[in-house]
Amino acid sequence: MLSKLLPLLSILPFVLGAPASGPTGTSTTSPTVFSASSSPTLTNSTTSSASASTSGASGFITIPLSSYSFTPYPTPTLNPRPPVFPATDPLNPPDVSCDPQVVPDFAPAWATAYEKAKNLMSDYTLEEKVNITTGVGWANGLCVGNIPSNKNFPGLCLEDSPLGVRFADFATAFPAGIQVASTWNRALMRARGLALGQEFKGKGVNIALGPMMNMGRIAQGGRNWEGFGADPFLTGESAYETILGLQQGGVQATAKHFINNEQEHFRTQESSNVDDRTQHEIYAHPFLRSVMAGVSSVMCSYNLINGSYACNNDKMLNDILKREYGFQGFVQSDWSATMSTLSAVAGLDMTMPGDITFDSGDSYFGGNLTDYVNDGYISMARVDDMATRIIAAWYYLHQDENFPATNFNAFNSNDEVNNQHVNVQSDHYKLVRQIGAAGTVLLKNENDALPLNKPRNLVLFGSDAGPGKSGPNEFSDQGGSDGILAMGWGSGTADFPYLISPLEGIQERARQDGSSVFWDFDDWNTALAGNMAFGQAVALVFIDSDSGEDYITVDGNQGDRNNLTAWHNGDNLVLSVAAQNNNTIVVVNSVGPLIIEPWIEHPNVTAVVWAGIQGQEAGNSIADVLYGVYNPSGKLPYTIAKDPADYSAQLVTEDSGSEFVSIDYTEGLFIDYRHFDQANITPRFEFGFGLSYTTFSYSDLDVSTLPSSDSDEQDLITAWENGQASPIAEGSSTALWLHEPAFQVTFAVTNTGPVAGTEIPQLYIHYPSSAGEPPSVLKGFTNVEITPGETESVSITLSRYDLSIWDVVAQGWRKPDGDGQISFSVGASSRDFKLQGDIPC
Ligand code: BGC
Repeated sequence: MLSKLLPLLSILPFVLGAPASGPTGTSTTSPTVFSASSSPTLTNSTTSSASASTSGASGFITIPLSSYSFTPYPTPTLNPRPPVFPATDPLNPPDVSCDPQVVPDFAPAWATAYEKAKNLMSDYTLEEKVNITTGVGWANGLCVGNIPSNKNFPGLCLEDSPLGVRFADFATAFPAGIQVASTWNRALMRARGLALGQEFKGKGVNIALGPMMNMGRIAQGGRNWEGFGADPFLTGESAYETILGLQQGGVQATAKHFINNEQEHFRTQESSNVDDRTQHEIYAHPFLRSVMAGVSSVMCSYNLINGSYACNNDKMLNDILKREYGFQGFVQSDWSATMSTLSAVAGLDMTMPGDITFDSGDSYFGGNLTDYVNDGYISMARVDDMATRIIAAWYYLHQDENFPATNFNAFNSNDEVNNQHVNVQSDHYKLVRQIGAAGTVLLKNENDALPLNKPRNLVLFGSDAGPGKSGPNEFSDQGGSDGILAMGWGSGTADFPYLISPLEGIQERARQDGSSVFWDFDDWNTALAGNMAFGQAVALVFIDSDSGEDYITVDGNQGDRNNLTAWHNGDNLVLSVAAQNNNTIVVVNSVGPLIIEPWIEHPNVTAVVWAGIQGQEAGNSIADVLYGVYNPSGKLPYTIAKDPADYSAQLVTEDSGSEFVSIDYTEGLFIDYRHFDQANITPRFEFGFGLSYTTFSYSDLDVSTLPSSDSDEQDLITAWENGQASPIAEGSSTALWLHEPAFQVTFAVTNTGPVAGTEIPQLYIHYPSSAGEPPSVLKGFTNVEITPGETESVSITLSRYDLSIWDVVAQGWRKPDGDGQISFSVGASSRDFKLQGDIPC
């Protein structure tokens, strides 16, 4: 037994995450010290090992026992206060609003679900409860993750991805997360979530493995395109609306990956070392918003956080997620991210896909978990809580009521019995096309190059303009690069039912206009491209840049991008075409920022369209923007730098030689634009930037204080107003008084240009310098559609939370110190401020 333990003794400090700031609640007691001979006897073949620690040569080992007292934190509040805080069922969320003022209260729905779950489980044995927490093992069921049935519980199907039902036919390939974030449009975020939710449910998926909300700390980060950009507020709102939509559609959503999974290199071997304030204000914020959206599940990530594996991290799981945020759903591991049976004590509720490594046939849960309970190492209460959370989430989404059985086989497309080819696509292609266009960002437009107006002819350059040679699903998990880039690679993908290339989208329109269309998809024959470009009315150059998950390497890129340069000779192609044609328009399909310095200022590059990662209708979305069918309104969800070194955090690819690679988040709060502003670095295009075919002006700023709907909490409000931190308690960070609308900023926006358009006004907070915050921090945005010459009044509300910083000493949210005034700017980007005001004291 001890020999089995020994290899794992070295990870001793990682077994249970130590609280970053002293005692954090009722979930931690002193470890018990006892002799090695009293370590658990595991009778099962599925022997666990990462469970003990040594105090050195003494021969004593230290194992947290069931005396590690446990509080499940089931219901943080049960007093809804409509209309601001209405009791909400996840199937019936509040209407979407571009200035949300309703804070849904899911606690009563959870309470009902908990009651039903406890009832159902009343005669479950320990083994049966444990089965609810343990996946059946890799590829042993129809879905990428499966929980077995038990008595009258039918089991659960868990399936990727954040942009569509992975490994299924007759399903839509939606735009990626980064695209919907680029719309800055809550209605589109919600609509995409809902359509996705309906498709997952239609396929009989209980739990969708998305959305993904890691932060884009590293510009080259392989999975950034699955997420919502490099700002926590934009990411948080995108996550919030996506989850409300998904769950309205009937599927349980999964907020992933919790937390600090910011790069693919070393993702299972790196410790992200993050200070408590940065964790709260930047990386955890989207998860807080997910809890506020009533998310059913959270997936812990592969990496370590401050030396403890994410799925074994008491601080993150028990303390922040379950206690502070009041999360009532369940925590599932990323695939094979469970490192110990004792992770159950650290807050992990479900291990996925169940086996320790794929196909290993053993599990840290299963028989081991049963033994740990029988031997007194883990309390029965903990296993009760784990299974209750999982079954409650199923009731919470009403999946006990006529939920379709899984009707596809993720692992075998030739399975004629289970692949029932249920068509769940509905007319979702329309939404795909709309989001593809609404998330496209116009970066440059000179000499009225765009919109196109019945040009005599057009010539398209670059492989990104056309279809891939062997169709849209040429590479498994999209792990390759050929033709229009409309998805990154990895588990965050889905099969394309079809894929409209730019050539197809543009030709369709050219036919109506009588324009001639020529093309050349050879990225490398730049001489030919230059010759073909000469004399044409419009030269469109399509370039791209791809990335994905670490288990696939494409062209030497192991998930993360090796650099921020366009793929397929893109820069040279642009330069060769621009050398011969003074109306060169560049269209970019990129998973994230690119360095575009080689050509952005070229006088013959008249327009740049940042088309993003658009899904199956990509070519149509691009054509809609090029021709002005959709007047661009997208804004950048990250900064485009002039030099890769301008970003504050860089990809770590060097193996330090030690067991774990340390990635220190030394930049703290200063990621992306927060750093550029602080360090006074001029970006090429700043966060929040995007042009339109029309122009807008801003006027009539007003700001007012809103009355509290929560008079019971007046003491807390007064304390906050006096600069005190919010007291920490169950659900304290998601409390109504902190999140209800407290201030309202109103202003007018006028369309001063020739065509109807949508503006995305953004609100940035400027804290007093003593607060230690970045110069400008996004805390609000809205979207407003305006016809030419018209003025619309818009409002953005702010909560006390929006104005707070995290106090690491008091462990609470508070207004920044002192007499310093909190001011704000409203404008068209993080650097284009139009109106300025002060928050009333
Ligand atoms: C990914 C998750 C995904 C899971 C199941 C993992 O490799 O990190 O995002 O949901 O696989 O496919």
